[in-house]
Formats: sequence, C-alpha cells, structure tokens
Amino acid sequence: MAQKMLKISYNLLIISIIILTSTPKSQAIFARTTTKAQQQPQNLTHIQFYFHDYVSGPNPTAIRIAQAKSTDQSSSSFGALVMIDDPLTEGPGNDSKIIGYAQGMYAFADQQQFALMMTMNLVFIEGDYNGSSLSVMGRNPVMESVREFGVIGGSGVFRFASGYAQAKTITMMDPNGATIVEYNVYVSH
Ligand SMILES: *[C@@H]1O[C@H](CO)[C@@H](O)[C@H](O)[C@H]1NC(C)=O
Ligand SMILES: *[C@@H]1O[C@H](CO)[C@@H](O)[C@H](O)[C@H]1NC(C)=O
Ligand SMILES: *[C@@H]1O[C@H](CO)[C@@H](O)[C@H](O)[C@H]1NC(C)=O
Repeated sequence: MAQKMLKISYNLLIISIIILTSTPKSQAIFARTTTKAQQQPQNLTHIQFYFHDYVSGPNPTAIRIAQAKSTDQSSSSFGALVMIDDPLTEGPGNDSKIIGYAQGMYAFADQQQFALMMTMNLVFIEGDYNGSSLSVMGRNPVMESVREFGVIGGSGVFRFASGYAQAKTITMMDPNGATIVEYNVYVSH
C-alpha cells in the first residue's frame, strides 16, 4: 500500500517537473525593479491630536452598520461593526480646530471584553500634511488606559510610512455623545 502511494507521488512529481519546465517563462512586463525617487534620510514625525467619536447626538460620526444575530446577547457586543468619519482636532475641546478625519471601521472582535479591531485612514487637511494620509490597524481594548496600534502605510508626505499610534481616552461619552481620545502617532517616512 505505502509502496503504491510512493509510486503515485513519484509519478506526480515527474509530471509536475515536465509541466513546469515546458511552460514558457513569464516576461514580467508588469513589474520592474526601480529606485526610490528621493534618497533622503527618513524623517521621524510625532503627531498629536484628539479623536472625537460621536456615537449619538444630532450628528453622529460613528454609525453601527452591521451586527450578528447574537450581538445583543453578547456582554462585549461581539460582532458589531461601526463605520466612522470622526473629526481629529488640535486640542481636546469640541470647538478646537479640525486638522483631519479618521475614516474607517471598528469591529467588536473579542467575546470576553470590549476590544475593537481598528482599521482606519487618518486623513489630514492642514498645512504640509493636507491631502496626505496614514493607514492604521490594531487591537483596541477600550477599557485599558493606553492602547497601541500599528501604522502600516501612508500616502503623500507619508509614503513608505511605518510606525505606531498610542490612544488614550480622556472623556467617555460626554453630554454631546462624544468619546474623546488623545492620539500620539510616531511615524517614520
Ligand atoms: C524630511 O523633512 C524635511 C523638513 O521638513 C523635508 O524637507 C524632507 O522632504 C523630509 N523627507 C522626507 C523623506 O519626507
Ligand atoms: C460643544 O460642547 C458644548 C457644551 O457641551 C455644546 O453646547 C456644543 O453644542 C458642543 N459642540 C459640538 C460641535 O458638539
Ligand atoms: C487642502 O487641499 C485642498 C485640495 O487641494 C484645498 O482645497 C484646501 O484649501 C487645502 N486646505 C488647506 C488648509 O491648505
């Protein structure tokens, strides 16, 4: 039995070698090696701002778009998915200047505790950063004082970005329906 199997797999090996060697080599015209446009040393930038997540009130910026049948029975809201377009401001006040938006989603991804899977773009609208963005992803156990996410990429001045973001809640559900979170982002680009 084992010998027969061995013989079959040996035959398969021979057949695949024949197929592989007889297939013409790809010309790879869609990709080629190049060099970076500017060979400057990378900058490390520290960005600090405040994230305003309005889950209720007259103009919510965080809207639940989906949930599982069992989400309402879950003590950690497991299975809920929220789409956000949250303003990012210079200071913690709700009248502080808006410097960008956090656009993306967070999902309740833990069956035991409130822990979100964040996936969002930080889109900047001010100064040198206007039109540039950072892509952020990570786990957000919201009850912990400081949470950390990865910066996995960027656009514009943030091309080739990598780094991390630390999030610290300073106000949970204020009278306007907003949770305000201080962000410190360290990014090399
Ligand atoms: C680094 O920062 C300097 C000064 O702001 C800027 O001129 C330069 O283009 C930046 N380099 C990169 C790679 O972004
Ligand atoms: C900011 O907070 C004040 C006081 O709670 C409130 O009157 C005002 O409507 C809020 N503004 C926004 C944009 O939420
Ligand atoms: C940001 O860029 C947009 C589009 O290019 C432009 O309309 C806007 O005035 C710019 N904002 C600032 C503050 O420079």
